[in-house]
Amino acid sequence: MDFQPHIAFVDDDDDLRNANRQTLELAGFSVVPFADAMSALRFLTPDFTGVVVSDVRMPHIDGLEFFRRLREMDADLPVILITGHGDIEMAVQAMQEGAYDFIAKPYPAERLVQSIRRAADKRHLVMENRQLRQIMESADETVPLIGQTPVMQNLRKTLRHVANADVDVLIAGETGSGKDVAAGLLHEWSRRKQGNFVALNCGALPESVIESELFGHEAGAFTGAQKKRIGRIEYASGGTLFLDEIESMPLATQVKLLRVLEMREITPLGTNEHRPVDLRVVAAAKVDLGSPEQRANFREDLFYRLNVVTVSIPPLRERKEDIPLLFTHFLHRAAIRFKTEPQEMTSALRARLMEHDWPGNVRELAHFAERVALGLGEMGGERVAAHAPTPVHLPDAMEQYEAKLIRDALSANEGDVRTTIEALGIPRKTFYDKLQRHGIDRADYIKGKSPPGQI
Ligand SMILES: Nc1ncnc2c1ncn2[C@@H]1O[C@H](COP(=O)(O)OP(=O)(O)OP(=O)(O)O)[C@@H](O)[C@H]1O
Ligand SMILES: [Mg+2]
Repeated sequence: MDFQPHIAFVDDDDDLRNANRQTLELAGFSVVPFADAMSALRFLTPDFTGVVVSDVRMPHIDGLEFFRRLREMDADLPVILITGHGDIEMAVQAMQEGAYDFIAKPYPAERLVQSIRRAADKRHLVMENRQLRQIMESADETVPLIGQTPVMQNLRKTLRHVANADVDVLIAGETGSGKDVAAGLLHEWSRRKQGNFVALNCGALPESVIESELFGHEAGAFTGAQKKRIGRIEYASGGTLFLDEIESMPLATQVKLLRVLEMREITPLGTNEHRPVDLRVVAAAKVDLGSPEQRANFREDLFYRLNVVTVSIPPLRERKEDIPLLFTHFLHRAAIRFKTEPQEMTSALRARLMEHDWPGNVRELAHFAERVALGLGEMGGERVAAHAPTPVHLPDAMEQYEAKLIRDALSANEGDVRTTIEALGIPRKTFYDKLQRHGIDRADYIKGKSPPGQI
């Protein structure tokens, strides 16, 4: 997804606005400055892919009111408020109502940049989730082969094309990559869709029954054949015969199948009749039948006969960009099936999905999504959830919170020790210990002594 972190920066003070703009542009953001909230409101839409940073104290519409209007437009839009001395209460109120962060003046540039980075990441994920949902909703329901990568778009195009051409097709692909889905589409998209789609798993049938399954038999053709039986090939006449796991077909059957493909007629067991069939054969293989080592016991002539058109489905690890879309689709489907709330992806989960190799391909991903939807998802031995917050390491979080309170108290008191420790309610010694531990330099907060990088 094309994502450029834009910042809408609102401040009625021209100098501050320009200084911030420069700093943020140097940090790599593209900044759209506004001198008042009203013009920012006219510009911002729910499609805005970035972050809003606004001063709190402004004429007409103040920061709090501005934030509330933005929240009404898009509750997921991160808003960072910059507060002066007297506005902290208002900013805290805004935070309670869902503002992303507030930063007290004066502040080191890095503080703002980091907050924006985190907010931009969050916004990116929200926008991506929205886009995925949109693709899913607008996707043609009759196309079950999901994927926006060029290989998948081409695959769908090829299948549509081939479906109309009425030739036999070999589908190659690893387990779970979508061979069944592709075979179904070849049938659905062809003029044969009125006829039967007959699937036969050549690997699952014992050798002794495969021929009677395929060709049918007359009553009494062999011991146990009490009744006449129409074979699968004949049943598929006018429609599509799907031969799955064709690489497991017994050699003797391969010879007979080759004959059917060439003559387009069958001879049921126990008869001398030749019955014409109108067939399209779609075969699927997990191995590369074109390679003599992998083909093993598969007849070369049958391979060439089937290989008029080969459609290859790439493994999921070669089209990883489709993983978020597929996963969102399966999560949604699972939510409907299990009657749970639809979930959204977190960035941690997304990263894990992209790292994994998916040897079981789309099937494995679908099963994983179901487990996540049930709160059972595990990957690499760790439990993962789609929307549970990233686990908080409490001591770290408390440390960070403490440092934030101290920095805020220091800036509120302009670096004055006496008033700062009074505000924090801690002994002087503890205060100095904590400054050292958090690497806070009191001098940074003394008015008129702004170090470089401070706005
Ligand atoms: N591109 C896709 N979009 C949506 N669902 C898919 C896609 N590809 C596969 N699936 C789903 O993944 C599962 C496995 O797909 P499928 O059965 O077609 O794989 P296969 O290649 O036939 O596997 P096997 O070799 O094990 O028979 C099915 O539930 C299918 O609906
Ligand atoms: Mg299959």
